[in-house]
Amino acid sequence: MEKIVLTGDRPTGKLHLGHYVGSLRRRVELQNSGEFDKIFIMIADAQALTDNADNPEKIRQNIIEVALDYLSVGLDPEKSTLFIQSMVPELTELSFYYMNLVTVSRLQRNPTVKSEIQLRNFETSIPVGFFTYPISQAADITAFKATVVPVGEDQKPMLEQTKEIVHKFNSVYGDTLVDPQILLPENETCMRLPGTDGKAKMSKSLGNCIYLSDSEEDVRKKVMSMFTDPNHIRVQDPGSLEGNTVFIYLDAFCKDEHFAEFLPEYKNLDELKEHYQRGGLGDVKVKKFLNKVLQSELAPIRARRKEYEANIPYVYEVLKKGCEVAEKEAAATLRDVREAMKINYFEDKALIQEQIERFK
Ligand code: TRP
Repeated sequence: MEKIVLTGDRPTGKLHLGHYVGSLRRRVELQNSGEFDKIFIMIADAQALTDNADNPEKIRQNIIEVALDYLSVGLDPEKSTLFIQSMVPELTELSFYYMNLVTVSRLQRNPTVKSEIQLRNFETSIPVGFFTYPISQAADITAFKATVVPVGEDQKPMLEQTKEIVHKFNSVYGDTLVDPQILLPENETCMRLPGTDGKAKMSKSLGNCIYLSDSEEDVRKKVMSMFTDPNHIRVQDPGSLEGNTVFIYLDAFCKDEHFAEFLPEYKNLDELKEHYQRGGLGDVKVKKFLNKVLQSELAPIRARRKEYEANIPYVYEVLKKGCEVAEKEAAATLRDVREAMKINYFEDKALIQEQIERFK
C-alpha cells in the first residue's frame, strides 16, 4: 500500500511557534525522509468558514499568509502538494455521503466540537456546517487515501471520528476507504506549547504568540518579557522549572549544539536546569540564551519568507498547481466511492443489461 500523508490548517491567522513544534516541523521531516509516496498539505478554508461565515475576507487574506509560512518552514512544492480545500469540490460531495453514516448524538459527543461550541458561544445556535465539520474532515483525510495524519493532540477526536466513518463505510459498502493513523508530536512539550505569558496555549486573541513571521526584534522582545518563575526574584534564589515558560521553550527547541555555540559554560539543558534550581542563575541569562536558540531556528525561515514575499505570483502558482493535483486524486477516490455505493449508474455496464433482463 502507498504511504500517504495528509494534514492541514485553518487559515484564520498566521502560523506561530505552537504550530511549528506541534506539527510543521514534523511535516518537513516526513517530507524530507523520502519515506512517503505522496504528501498533501491542505489550507482548510472551507473548514475555517464554518465558524467565520461572515468574514470571508479574513480567510482570503490568511490563505497567502499560511502558504508563505508553509514554504518558509521548508515545505517544498516539488515534494509536497500544497492546496486549498475549497478548490477540491469532490470533498464536499464525499462529506454529503458520509453524513448518512454519522448520528447527531455522535457529533455532539465529539470533545473538540464540544469545547469549540463553548468557546464560540454557539450553544444556542450552532451553525450546521460547523457542527458537521468532523465529517468534512473525514472526507479530507479519506479523499487522499491518507495513511498518516500528523496533527496536534486537539485533533485526536477528529481522527477517531474519521476512523469510525471509514469502518462504517467499508462494512456497509465493501472495502473502499483507507484507515488512517494519527501521528502526534513526539513529546509532551511539543503537544502543547504555552503562550509567552505562561497561559495554556498560544492564541491570537490572548496576544501571547511568537509568529514564524515575527521580526528578529519582535522575537527578542517577546522572549525577554516571557513568564518565568514569579518567586525567582534575586539571582541567588533557587528557581522552579514548574510552569516556567522559558524552560518549556528550551525543552521544545534547544539542542546540545546550542550550548557549544551560545553558552559553552554548560554542556546541556540538564546542567542549566540544575543550576537554575540550585540558585545563582538569573532569568535574563536564560532568556538571552533562549533568544539565540529561537533566532537560529527562525532566521532561515525568515529569510526564505522574504524571498517568497518578493514573488507572490509564484506562491499562487504553487497553490493552483497543487489544487489541480489534489483534485485529480480526490476525483479518483470519489469514483471508487460511487462505485461502492452503487451510484455510478452510467459507468456500470452490467446495470443496463440487468434492467433489460428485469423488464423482459
Ligand atoms: N482541523 C484542522 C485545524 O483545526 C484543519 C484540518 C482540516 C485538518 N482538515 C484536516 C487537519 C484534515 C488534518 C487533516 O487546524
